[in-house]
Amino acid sequence: MDKDKRSLVLGIETTCDETAASVVERAADGSGRILSNIVRSQTEEHAAYGGVVPEIAARAHVDLLDGIVASAMKEAGLEFAQLSGVAAAAGPGLIGGVIVGLTTAKAIAMVHGTPLIAVNHLEAHALTPRLTCALAFPYCLFLASGGHTQIVAVAGVGNYVRLGTTLDDAIGEASDKVAKMLGLPYPGGPQVERAAAGGDPMRFDFPRPMLGRGDANFSLSGLKTAVRNEASRLTPLDARAISDLCAGFQAAVLESVADRLKVGIKLFNEKFGPPRALVAAGGVAANQAIRGALQDVAAAAQTTLIIPPPQLCTDNGAMIAWAGAERLALGMTDQMDAPPRARWLLDANATAPAKFANTRAGF
Ligand code: KG4
Ligand code: ZN
Repeated sequence: MDKDKRSLVLGIETTCDETAASVVERAADGSGRILSNIVRSQTEEHAAYGGVVPEIAARAHVDLLDGIVASAMKEAGLEFAQLSGVAAAAGPGLIGGVIVGLTTAKAIAMVHGTPLIAVNHLEAHALTPRLTCALAFPYCLFLASGGHTQIVAVAGVGNYVRLGTTLDDAIGEASDKVAKMLGLPYPGGPQVERAAAGGDPMRFDFPRPMLGRGDANFSLSGLKTAVRNEASRLTPLDARAISDLCAGFQAAVLESVADRLKVGIKLFNEKFGPPRALVAAGGVAANQAIRGALQDVAAAAQTTLIIPPPQLCTDNGAMIAWAGAERLALGMTDQMDAPPRARWLLDANATAPAKFANTRAGF
């Protein structure tokens, strides 16, 4: 594939509880345009269980994906034969869902003789800002989704250096658990944000994890336990207590994020010079309070803050299609034996913190 040629790429996302497909156009000048972007969230299927049930997710992807791919192609006004590439998220994620998406992409690619691109889901989050604006490498990424909380130097397509990661829970995961312990519905992150809006962030003296440490790692489990302890002390919880607990939790998260990112940007600077931008991605970046905190961090570091629109922060097919298009332009395609991966580190040289290698954060 010539890097200066226009390309049309189908992207398939099935790593968690969103079944999604999208067609993206990458122009010869490297700019991107979304031709279709269809996301079917499985929130209802999992709501009764208070979290994503892997087996239910995999079966739902099987039921939904063909129809969603057909809709994405129809909305883009294209036939499969017109595609330049077919991309699927090949991990990290829930393996049943990953197999469904990757196998579907392989089938389409094989039948139509189209190049396959097996995309790392985290890489797709990392490259999304280049779809929505003309952003050059290197930039500093704050990636905060359900399973990941990382600070990453994005030095080029396929070139990532992890500067910090969580030692236990991801922020999204901790938010979901806090919501669950307070009786708020799944998914918890947006519920905690909503409840926090009317609460008193000073009522409880919650810890600020990792504050002042020289590395750029995160830790959320101590804060989560502190919220649990207060919640059980106050049970039965009234609406006021729930709001105050959420506000206290969120304030502690914000302070921790700001402090960790300050260190992360310093580490970035030492390796790559000043970042072209601070970029936030992943579902947690949809949180307005976190967006505000990131704005302050970027201003203090004299860099620009870029956050893709909320619908491109949470899981979607356009980000997979775009990462596929970026890789395709560089000739980085995959063979039909590309494996589905439950775990897949973005930075090949980084290791999961040993003590926590079995948590979701160890992806
Ligand atoms: O990136 P994403 O859609 O899926 C994964 O790849 O995990 O992120 C989902 C996570 C969930 O934990 C969800 O609770 C959290 O992002 N989230 C939020 C908000 N919206 C989604 N967390 C805090 N505030 C929000 N507004
Ligand atoms: Zn994600």
